[in-house]
Amino acid sequence: MIITCAEIDGFRNLSGMKIQPDPKYNIISGKNAQGKTNLLEALWIMSGCKSFRSSKEKDYISLEKNKMLVEMKILDNIREQKIKIEMTKNSENKKNIYLNEVKQKGTKPLFDVFKCIVFIPDDVDIIKGSPEKRRNFIDMAYSQINPATVFHLNKYNKIMNHRNALLKQIMNGHEKTDALELWDRPASYEGAFVSYLRNDYIRQINEICSKLYRTLSGGTEELKLEYKSNVYKPEDFENPLSEKSAEIYFRKLQESSGYDIKTGTTHTGIARDEILIKINGLSAREYASQGQIKSTALVMKLAQAEIFMQKSDDAPVIFLDDVMGELDENRQKFIFDIVRNMQVFITTCNESALLPEIKGKIFRIQNGELIEN
Ligand SMILES: Nc1ncnc2c1ncn2[C@@H]1O[C@H](COP(=O)(O)OP(=O)(O)O)[C@@H](O)[C@H]1O
Ligand SMILES: [Mg+2]
Repeated sequence: MIITCAEIDGFRNLSGMKIQPDPKYNIISGKNAQGKTNLLEALWIMSGCKSFRSSKEKDYISLEKNKMLVEMKILDNIREQKIKIEMTKNSENKKNIYLNEVKQKGTKPLFDVFKCIVFIPDDVDIIKGSPEKRRNFIDMAYSQINPATVFHLNKYNKIMNHRNALLKQIMNGHEKTDALELWDRPASYEGAFVSYLRNDYIRQINEICSKLYRTLSGGTEELKLEYKSNVYKPEDFENPLSEKSAEIYFRKLQESSGYDIKTGTTHTGIARDEILIKINGLSAREYASQGQIKSTALVMKLAQAEIFMQKSDDAPVIFLDDVMGELDENRQKFIFDIVRNMQVFITTCNESALLPEIKGKIFRIQNGELIEN
């Protein structure tokens, strides 16, 4: 899919911006703090996802304006669609979302319309950061292929909120231990479902990551991603998802309930899952060098794009924020080879650091506005 045109006004420091991107490569160039990342962020939020910067939605609106507007057209294999997000500064900072001029209740319908993948320098946190970062990466990645799965994750989280509240009531003697079954049953179904999804996705991404990393390292290093479920043993996944899988999950929850009641929180289940990332058998989190970590993050994102292409017969739009110019020629060529047939947006403050092959439209940004070449 490609973005055919976009209009942005009042989003952070961007004002009156109209662009018609190249179907292939787009270079967004400018000095620091001019609005390059803001432009990618404005386009990114049209996917219905939260910002890739850990920022609050209310900060989207320009400090100098009362309203922000981002509008764009997306062309996929089938048709062109129009998405618009408006936000006005007021007590609620509510977003108004329109798909093909029809007002939508939330961002959910956008997941199906616009798919993109972003690379940012902070992606190294997927490897170096807490297990939650890795779980989020995996959950986001399979949700992109099948947006309906988000429903199961959300449902699981809601059930856990109830369970944790109940644990505290039991701890205080206001409820009986038996009452936990009310939440542990539905939690088992949703938890089993998510575990199987994660296992399936990690298996697929592991295969592609290994292949890509081998190429990138010139055949000298082996990257492996392994799902360490908190509930299931690897051989459990050899059986298909069934009543039995839910039963295993249920028993695990019940087994830990004593300790859970003492502490008032749940200690088992998918919120304790880990994804092990190993290079030549050693945990990347503990032993990998900066360069290996960068390469691993890169390979994981590229693998996400590749799986997406295999499943949907369409390519996501790729955003590369401040990553290309930082990489050596070898790594740039490697990325370029994989995203060759996708629409790509590359931000840089140094156009000359980019591979000469990367020719396309150049957008120069100064103080939140486009400047003519
Ligand atoms: N809500 C906002 N209103 C106005 N300006 C903002 C807002 N949020 C961020 N900015 C400004 O945007 C600029 C940073 O833009 P950014 O896209 O991150 O720069 P870069 O070109 O380095 O990627 C800063 O000057 C910052 O003050
Ligand atoms: Mg930036």
